[in-house]
Amino acid sequence: MNTMAFQTLRALADGAFHSGEDIARTLGVTRSAVWYGIRDLSGAGFAIEKVRGRGYRLEHAISLLDAASVQSALAADAQRIELEIREVVDSTNAQLMQRVGAGVRSGLVLVAEEQNAGRGRRGRAWHSGIGSALTFSLLWRFAQGARELAGLSLAVGLGLVRALRAAGAAGVQLKWPNDLVTPDGKLAGILIEVQGDVLGPSAAVIGIGLNVRPDPRMRAAIDQPVADLETIAGAPVDRNLLLAGLLREIVAVLDAFAAQGFAPLREEWQRFHVHQNRKVRLMLPDGNEVTGVACGVAEDGALLLDAGNGIVRHHSGEVSLRGVGVPA
Ligand code: BTN
Repeated sequence: MNTMAFQTLRALADGAFHSGEDIARTLGVTRSAVWYGIRDLSGAGFAIEKVRGRGYRLEHAISLLDAASVQSALAADAQRIELEIREVVDSTNAQLMQRVGAGVRSGLVLVAEEQNAGRGRRGRAWHSGIGSALTFSLLWRFAQGARELAGLSLAVGLGLVRALRAAGAAGVQLKWPNDLVTPDGKLAGILIEVQGDVLGPSAAVIGIGLNVRPDPRMRAAIDQPVADLETIAGAPVDRNLLLAGLLREIVAVLDAFAAQGFAPLREEWQRFHVHQNRKVRLMLPDGNEVTGVACGVAEDGALLLDAGNGIVRHHSGEVSLRGVGVPA
């Protein structure tokens, strides 16, 4: 979406009526610029009511990202986080990966209202609607080598579950290796990209995409069931408070991970494991698949699968329930 459309969205964000004239005056632009802004917002999928004599109104108020609100909710953790909010980027992960070598500090967080080339795991695209998701990446530096970061994505997933459960999403669980799921579908995904030496130091760009509001366009673009936080919580979600809550728990698990790796977090992770001790099918990267009981995860984050001939560690693959005698 272009800058004018974003400015118009900001002017309408509270869900109240605003006349075209008022919006133009507030933004310091012409009435016709506002008209184009409204047109582009409608084109982007926002439902806008127009009433003669009253002006325009967003059908649903929207909480836009605001650095000051996030910083104040971060409280003591604010010193450890440097927040950068952008309206549109290609991918927050791609942006931070380009900056790892430029010596930027550990704790830099890039949040975007819109990504036009969001990246998912396994080369997939990540789709999210404007204002209806949280899409951000956090750069974190480790003394450890890149190889020792196995298990990091599971640790981050646990941090997200802690924060979401504290925010009222009691039923959120983890699907190996690092999806957040509910019975309705996938709520959030994590993409970690690492740079650095095998022996250390290393840097991780931790990208998180979380669905906040129901968004029919986004659902249509995604080929799997989707869950969203507002439906789960049954109430509007303030994305700034949510982001602060997520960052605080992520920082806590990153500190634990930097000190002792995934091992001390493993038991808690298994408590939230949606497939713990269930029969699953694991699609392997080479196209083969194996069926067995998911016995949990190892200290390096590998999935422990008992396929009848002893427990085998799997470091990659996609878990599914299809074809194992239970609904997927
Ligand atoms: C997955 O496939 O489950 C991982 C999705 C990760 C998406 C997030 S959105 C913010 C960050 N920037 C990206 O381009 N991807 C991650």
